[in-house]
Amino acid sequence: MLKGKNIILGITGSIAAYKAAILVRSLVKEGADVKVIMTPLAKEFISPLTLATLCKNPILVDFFNPENGDWNSHVDLGLWADLYLIAPASANTMGKMAHGIADNLLLTTYLSAKCPVMIAPAMDLDMYQHPATLKNIEILKSYGNTIVEATSGELASGLIGKGRMEEPEVITEKIKLFFAQQEGEKKKLSNKKILITAGPTYEQIDPVRFIGNNSTGKMGFAIAEELAERGAIVDMVCGPTAEKASHKNIIVHNVVSANDMLHKSLELFDSSDVSIMAAAVADFTPVNKDQQKVKRGKENLTIELKPTADIAKTLGQSKRDNQIMVGFALETQNEEFNAKDKLTRKNLDFIVLNSLNDKGAGFGYDTNKITIIDNQNNIQKFELKTKREVAGDIADKILTYFED
Ligand code: CTP
Repeated sequence: MLKGKNIILGITGSIAAYKAAILVRSLVKEGADVKVIMTPLAKEFISPLTLATLCKNPILVDFFNPENGDWNSHVDLGLWADLYLIAPASANTMGKMAHGIADNLLLTTYLSAKCPVMIAPAMDLDMYQHPATLKNIEILKSYGNTIVEATSGELASGLIGKGRMEEPEVITEKIKLFFAQQEGEKKKLSNKKILITAGPTYEQIDPVRFIGNNSTGKMGFAIAEELAERGAIVDMVCGPTAEKASHKNIIVHNVVSANDMLHKSLELFDSSDVSIMAAAVADFTPVNKDQQKVKRGKENLTIELKPTADIAKTLGQSKRDNQIMVGFALETQNEEFNAKDKLTRKNLDFIVLNSLNDKGAGFGYDTNKITIIDNQNNIQKFELKTKREVAGDIADKILTYFED
């Protein structure tokens, strides 16, 4: 069933557009709320009135309604949808999608959609075989879009070959399967409470200065979003950062120093199923914090530092058998050796290693390249990926601890 699912159907100018009517009916019958966007050419192939009657929503073609000036916001549409299905997708529209061209409402909505995108191509066999089309399909796949391959048969041109849009009933089944898989993944973490430490800590020297580090908290927030999407309730204990959480399952607890982070984490640890130590915690803090601003002098200034508490180690020492602990190791040399040492020392279940020697990994980047080492000495090395994809790999590893 597709009850409660919001689906945008984008229809382009292809003879297969007639199948869109059956597709809308089939999606609505399964309980989905369907909104239709057509390219101007698509209107030549199927009447908007037919589609509006079937989906019980106005059909959207232009950026605004020429009669009353109402604005059709592509951003709102993109946010509304749980899935954006483009069927039939012509070679022209796929080419524009692959290259970021946005000259109609269907395309601007594609560029702003945050939801998964499914594309069902339809065209003549030679167009389908052309290297440009094949390349565009590969590009769209690399954006994470799902392609519902065209099937073979008699085409509108009279030629026989691959290019027929997949049948509406099959597309509907694929959509049902897609949502079922998504729900399945979510369910696996739906009762889990997860504690994440993230960002840097600031250790105050005087009222205006502190010792900090380059951590932005991006990796921690990406993990929080990924786990929240899979149904977990996430408590983030987070040092000073510009990052913001957007999922309703994420509760952010702002802290400043390593000591604050330790106390907040201890408070939340007992009730957590998984703890992920992604923060770059300061290892030292000034012995004395000046109450007044330290004045410039002619002499060198020495600030005496004392070690902070090791949060991961402290929590690891009181970890129960049914609790999972994950640590991070950002290393510059002897990477695996150092990571394994931290894994044992802090009583972690697995550690995520990244090396500052890898291009694109470390502070400030939107990408990361990780190796996961667990306490059974299983080692998984991953390619350079976006931090969100890396978060997906970490979430997959966490899931293995909850599988029967
Ligand atoms: N960590 C922590 N509290 C600290 C220091 C580190 O919880 N005071 C956690 C980090 O969040 C990370 C793991 O421990 O998950 C490893 O951090 P790292 O700074 O690499 O380890 P340290 O033990 O501080 O070792 P190093 O001497 O390499 O700094």
